[in-house]
Amino acid sequence: MIGSVEILDAGKAIRLRNNDGSEARFHAVWLRDNALDPDTRDAGNGQRLITVNGIPDDVRIGAASVEGDDVLVTFAPEGKSVRFPSQWLRAHAYDRSATRAAGWLPTALETWDGALNTAVPCDSFDRLASDRGALGGWLAAVRRYGFAKVSGGPVEDGALMTVAALFGYVRETNYGKWFEVRTEVNPSNLAYTGLGLQAHTDNPYRDPVPTLQILYCLENSAEGGESMVVDGFAAALRLKDEDPRGFDLLARYCARFDYAGSAGVRLSARRPMIELSPDGELIGVRFNNRSTAPITDVPYDDMADYYAAYRRLADIIDDPAMAVSFKLEPGESFIVDNTRVLHARKGYSGAGTRWLQGCYADKDGLLSTLSAIEHEAREAAQ
Ligand code: FE2
Repeated sequence: MIGSVEILDAGKAIRLRNNDGSEARFHAVWLRDNALDPDTRDAGNGQRLITVNGIPDDVRIGAASVEGDDVLVTFAPEGKSVRFPSQWLRAHAYDRSATRAAGWLPTALETWDGALNTAVPCDSFDRLASDRGALGGWLAAVRRYGFAKVSGGPVEDGALMTVAALFGYVRETNYGKWFEVRTEVNPSNLAYTGLGLQAHTDNPYRDPVPTLQILYCLENSAEGGESMVVDGFAAALRLKDEDPRGFDLLARYCARFDYAGSAGVRLSARRPMIELSPDGELIGVRFNNRSTAPITDVPYDDMADYYAAYRRLADIIDDPAMAVSFKLEPGESFIVDNTRVLHARKGYSGAGTRWLQGCYADKDGLLSTLSAIEHEAREAAQ
């Protein structure tokens, strides 16, 4: 509950004092831009009806008072009164002084290592398709951990499309709506046995990169061939602990990635291996030994240290203690946040077939569906 409101700096801001002793300041121009009245925000679609440069240059708070659980603000020179619920103000408070250290993560995310092997997030396809609450829980796990499994799906060509349809849309690429990950293991040809793949994020040569990948198992009678996932954010933060300068180099300089493996396709991207937002949030990892191009954006004087950090990050990613491993059964699949979680395949041995299908999808659609489910749950609880 808000106890009092005080006008600051000749009306350029207000300070709210809550009954619990906490305080929050808001600027007049910020409040005016975010006014909740139907002349400022469309009551139907919630979109803003004013432009930021349409706000008077001399906007200020002419009067402010606490009325019940709301703060009533009158803007001068318009003489316009707007009501702000205290809950809304709390949810949108920005009065923080501390700048956050590089590599910070939102509270909805949790980094992990091999200890998550005992608690792999997973739900059954039937439950996800029929129970919106279960779907919300599974999507929240994807948001939190950057990966989750689905069990008990149909064993049929293209079934992975039904997993994507649980939350959003497939992103079609030059590899098609989906692609085959099929290897006939031939014991007479050792070249096709024991071939693992280092953990990687897919398609770092695209910009924007595919933000989700689904890998769906249709057959897996080969020995070995387990799937592994590694939390790229945990790996990047471990590098930061061990070697802050190495972390900074991989975040500060762009690597280059390219792919020209089929006719008519020449993809390339110039992005850092560790991507931070301007205020230091860890927002992406790109790591793929097969498609890293010659790196030419690191100055000569920093290249040796850059490579030392790159090699150390690779060692961390290869550390078995970082990995969660599982063998997919037919009808099982997993999804990874391809901006964060690396995936790998252990080597094969013996006879048998491993047939997976993969596709890409967009994380914004997944998070939108999750947010809508969470909104529905809040509305239902009221
Ligand atoms: Fe891959």
